[in-house]
Amino acid sequence: MDLRPLAPDFGAEVLGATLIDVTERDDAYAFVRAAFEEHSVLLFRNQQISDELQAAYSRRFGELEIAKVASLGEGTPFSILTNVDRATGALVAPDHKEALRARANQLWHTDSSFKAQPALASVLSARTIPPSGGETEFASQRSAWARLPEDMRARIADLCVWHDYAHSRGQIAPHLASERERNAMPPVCWRIRWRNPVNGRDALYLASHAYAIEGMPREEGYALIRELIAHVTDPAHTYLHRWQAGDVVMWDNRATMHRGRPWPDNLHARLMKRTTISASDADGVAATRAPCSGETVGRVLQAAG
Ligand SMILES: [Fe+2]
Repeated sequence: MDLRPLAPDFGAEVLGATLIDVTERDDAYAFVRAAFEEHSVLLFRNQQISDELQAAYSRRFGELEIAKVASLGEGTPFSILTNVDRATGALVAPDHKEALRARANQLWHTDSSFKAQPALASVLSARTIPPSGGETEFASQRSAWARLPEDMRARIADLCVWHDYAHSRGQIAPHLASERERNAMPPVCWRIRWRNPVNGRDALYLASHAYAIEGMPREEGYALIRELIAHVTDPAHTYLHRWQAGDVVMWDNRATMHRGRPWPDNLHARLMKRTTISASDADGVAATRAPCSGETVGRVLQAAG
């Protein structure tokens, strides 16, 4: 088993171990788990992927999330990203909910930061790949933390950030997050810094779902959030993954941001399936949970008008 770097700052291709090996062998799991903690994004090429294998591999790392309400995979461990209408088999129109979701997915984000139980990792497999575009781009929030000037790190180290699914969706279309989704996923607050319990390295923890900073005027907080996202996603430090048939990519949601890239979705189908592994206290959840009250949420949202 070996690793090959994907980018200067982070990411590695796993060589000599398949998803089946990790599922069946403790030594392969230990190798890949250590690589995951260290490199944040892992690539496996030429996998014989199936739903069963993807779920079994993912379960090695922890409990699986059940896909969120009102999503295609609701009630299953699979989040399904597609522009193909299930009923008709045709490509969806540009104003279809799944087309808008794809656009929301093209904002820099980290999966499930808006949930009460955040995500350790996501595992994404390519099932139908368009001939051009549709890449997934990654940025390291760990390398971004280390690249921040010392005085900035000191200034923000103890801040807490509010995350809301409705906020990121609202950037695409005002009512993209339905009332049912809003009710199921109220805003949550996390510390701005997630310390990896294995290696002690810090990462920024914020992205498209982040909309306010606790104790800071709304505009000022949001300006800081935007400034930090721009810092994290500096094009000189990102990794663009161009999908090939058989690729599976896994990433650490505690230490990276990602975004889908556009493709000619009026011409070509794209189907991706994601499993998401919940983070546990052993992965640093309790230490990252912010000491913010429910009352503050109301105030922050009111301030937003
Ligand atoms: Fe995502």
